[in-house]
Amino acid sequence: MCGIVGAIARRNVSKILLEGLSRLEYRGYDSAGVAINNDEGVFGHRAVGKVQGLRDKFDAAPLDGTVGIAHTRWATHGKPTELNAHPHFSGNDLALVHNGIIENHEELRAGLKNQGYVFQSETDTEVIVHLIHSALQSGLGLLQAVQTSLNKLEGAFAIAVTQKDDKERFIAARKGSPLVVGVGIEENFVASDQLALLHVTDQFIFLEEGDVVEVTRDAVTVYDLNGQEQERPVSVFNHHVDATDKGEFRHYMMKEIYEQPSVISACLEGRISDKKVLTSCFGADSAFLKDVENVHIIACGTSYHAGLVAKYWIEDLAGIPCLVEVASEYRYRKVAVPKNTLFLTLSQSGETADTLAALRMAKELNYLTTLAICNVPSSTLVRESDLTLLTNAGAEIGVASTKAFTTQLTALLITSIAIAVENGLPADKEEALVQAMKELPAHVYAALKQDAHIKEVSDKFANKHHSLFLGRGVMFPIALEGALKLKEISYIHAEAYPAGELKHGPLALVDEHMPIITLVPHNDLLDKLKSNIQEVSARGGELFVFADRDTNLDNEEGITFTEVPKVPQILEPIVHTIPLQLLSYHVAVVKGTDVDQPRNLAKSVTVE
Ligand code: G6P
Repeated sequence: MCGIVGAIARRNVSKILLEGLSRLEYRGYDSAGVAINNDEGVFGHRAVGKVQGLRDKFDAAPLDGTVGIAHTRWATHGKPTELNAHPHFSGNDLALVHNGIIENHEELRAGLKNQGYVFQSETDTEVIVHLIHSALQSGLGLLQAVQTSLNKLEGAFAIAVTQKDDKERFIAARKGSPLVVGVGIEENFVASDQLALLHVTDQFIFLEEGDVVEVTRDAVTVYDLNGQEQERPVSVFNHHVDATDKGEFRHYMMKEIYEQPSVISACLEGRISDKKVLTSCFGADSAFLKDVENVHIIACGTSYHAGLVAKYWIEDLAGIPCLVEVASEYRYRKVAVPKNTLFLTLSQSGETADTLAALRMAKELNYLTTLAICNVPSSTLVRESDLTLLTNAGAEIGVASTKAFTTQLTALLITSIAIAVENGLPADKEEALVQAMKELPAHVYAALKQDAHIKEVSDKFANKHHSLFLGRGVMFPIALEGALKLKEISYIHAEAYPAGELKHGPLALVDEHMPIITLVPHNDLLDKLKSNIQEVSARGGELFVFADRDTNLDNEEGITFTEVPKVPQILEPIVHTIPLQLLSYHVAVVKGTDVDQPRNLAKSVTVE
């Protein structure tokens, strides 16, 4: 949700900033801009659309300098226009980039207008740059002017600011939005995440809530919320592969779909033995497991769907109640917390604003403990939760989540079994489940083999505007996820229903123009699902069935059949996810949409 980069070096920083923006485009991509502070003053280029448009402007009119800040935007206040794009300027003195939302911007704007400031944009951000300018006019230095101004802001922000007369440093800060410092040799940087800076450094400082940082070529000085200087540790980035490389694939999404067998292996590694779940994966203090009597799972988007699957596993295997809720609802209601309830958040990024707010609220309630299942070790969610289980999926760049989802499910299965063991799951059952999990990467690999067939099937969606996904039991959340994937990247309206609800409304939509994607599990609901398929067939609906061959649905008339490997029941939701990811990918390619960066969306939603 907006990405920011800042750099100070002895070399020209404009290329570093542009490369950083390209790496951050997953956070927002409706406009972008760079400001360079050089001998002429503070100047910038801004462009609507992708970072490439900004690169073109730099090619046409180069701007060089050794200090600069940059931004890629996901619009919140004001349309994606050049005037609303960041950086925002106060005269020719000061430039600022911002990620987040300033809630009291209207009141601040009125005060600044009274002082004579003229606003160029509709953004909440522009108030910050004028506030700092106004503080500078009162005689403060840049650092103090930023600190004073930030105290007046309500809301969430990460900012970077550069001043014309101060070419030896820039200032950055975070409160409620992510920001890391990249430490180089005679050059230093800031960015919304590490990925943006991997081309220049692998050493990072994670700022804490309320930190303000003064960045010079040779030093990084961090001040906390109270203005006290603080030492923050430097950590080294340890991903083996630079995930921002697409390799042989045309899109990140496809690369990430194909990575699933290996990242699921990485997620299982060290977490299961031949017979058991290794509870040490929850950290030194896994004693909480024996006390869990209830589970509350809170998440957003795709992560929420993973939580819905876990509800079936937890209630079935452990026999204890599990509530699953989207964070944006949970955080605004009074929640009844039964005794000994585990609060579990799910998040790929660990920076989703609603999920973080839910965690902070939960910490004030009477939960047993807080556990985050998350993909980003350095994220705010991980740092603020009592316990963490990392999904180890590696960086996910495609906005539509794929490998993060299946690794979340893998981590959730580990967690469900661990809780179930404490609630009487027999050892032989645990061993059977663990043995099944060991085969999971191979089953996912087998599911990927349907890629070519699914590509052919996707042609049938080229002219569709609507679609219906059906599932039953634990496959219903997978139907929800399949529908979300399709709508996110192909813009085809997709709805998911529990198949048993078909007759209570959606059947009215069924005719020969309506594709109906049906997920058929091989369990005791199989016959019931076959009846649902008949209901659709009888009304002429166009059926796309995903099932294993033993269901005997492959030769049914009027059905487009896609084979899913036959796997132990517990793994079905994970394995059935793969063909739906491939379907939405190929349909999006057929429709010619922007697969990795679908319109209006962002990978990491760090604003409310
Ligand atoms: C955004 C992304 C989704 C993601 C959701 C939650 O909407 O586009 O793909 O599922 O945020 O993100 P999180 O990082 O918390 O899993």
